[in-house]
Amino acid sequence: NGANLAPTPPMGFNNWARYTCNLNEALFVATADRLVSSGLAANGYRTITVDDCWMTGSRDAAGNLVTNSSRFPHGMKWLADYVHGKGLQFGIYEDAGTSTCVGLPASWGHEQADANLFASFGVDYVKLDGCNVPPEPGKTQEQTYHDVYAKWSQALANTGRRMVFSESAPAYFYIGVSDKRDWYKVLEWTPQYGQLWREGDDMGLAEYSAATQWSTIVRNYDYNLPLARFAGPNAWNDPDFLIPGSGITPDEARSQMSLWSMMAAPLILSTDVTALGAAELAIVGNPDVVAVDQDPLGAQGTLVSRNGNTDILARQLANGDRAVALFNRGGSSATISTTTATVGLPGGTGCTYAVKDLWTGQSSSGTTISATVPAHGTAMFRVTPGATCAGAQPTGQITVTSG
Ligand code: GLA
Ligand code: GLA
Repeated sequence: NGANLAPTPPMGFNNWARYTCNLNEALFVATADRLVSSGLAANGYRTITVDDCWMTGSRDAAGNLVTNSSRFPHGMKWLADYVHGKGLQFGIYEDAGTSTCVGLPASWGHEQADANLFASFGVDYVKLDGCNVPPEPGKTQEQTYHDVYAKWSQALANTGRRMVFSESAPAYFYIGVSDKRDWYKVLEWTPQYGQLWREGDDMGLAEYSAATQWSTIVRNYDYNLPLARFAGPNAWNDPDFLIPGSGITPDEARSQMSLWSMMAAPLILSTDVTALGAAELAIVGNPDVVAVDQDPLGAQGTLVSRNGNTDILARQLANGDRAVALFNRGGSSATISTTTATVGLPGGTGCTYAVKDLWTGQSSSGTTISATVPAHGTAMFRVTPGATCAGAQPTGQITVTSG
């Protein structure tokens, strides 16, 4: 992790939740073009990742993975070059086990060869999934995952090419596992080997109902929220994709964007980027909210209080400001209020705070942070201390448990 590959959370696009295996070269070309023309790339959405299903069902005679040429007629090197030509970065998916989650060839026993192939394509970002990792004699599954993710980390380093490493290992010790001790063990070592890690379930696919998509946003928020201690520059908890434009409402999309940014999560769009309208672009491209996500301190926000369906979150920012979110997971609107003191800003003689609502753009001054938040909505603020204010204190925090 000394390579400083992801000082702030990665941002970009991945096809999976929107397109699953219905992917091809034209999709990635059109997505790259629109990321640039819409301004999202200038906002930070710069890594385009090809997920599962880019390869054929068997390796070639030399043991290498083979790109599916009916989907990617010009091959992966061509696509990486195209993406680079747009000023973007190129990511690819593989799996650490014997086959990927959909049953295509995975990298078990081929780690260095596959890393070398990705380097030869010009890959900048590798998402390494954890389906079908076989049991090994004399090792726990946790040790087996450790060893193969460590091996991949070394294989990537051996190529000499700088590639961000996204590890899915923790998810395989969370989903369907009631005893979470191994999950925490895995979360202790993932930061040594990569820059981000998926630690739980998948975001709902675009083909599911809007209600299901929303429930997966809330579920992934809930498992990701307590993991702040594992996050920091080059080490990001990944609660999976942003899914605006696939059925959820604008309030729900603003909630996901707010909560993910409060949690310093990777912002990886999995939607039809070419079809995003002005409203959705204004949500995922909101520069004030993106700036919170990308804050260089890299401190993941925490829960300050929870009252029924409403959560108050606070996040410490590098310049001494504090980001605050008021989240209403309930089905009717709610007035949610807190104070600057409650979120760790102690005030002092003559001290005033500027409170900017990052969704309406309105600023006020005072010590109250309050909003009437619609059903499934989130209000988000940036609080800036005046010159005479006492130094910020650690954010108040209550403990919640994942799962
Ligand atoms: C798993 C991952 C998804 C996607 C699919 C591909 O479900 O969590 O993000 O990569 O595999 O098969
Ligand atoms: C060894 C390692 C595993 C895995 C396999 C296959 O058994 O311990 O982690 O890499 O080789 O390559």
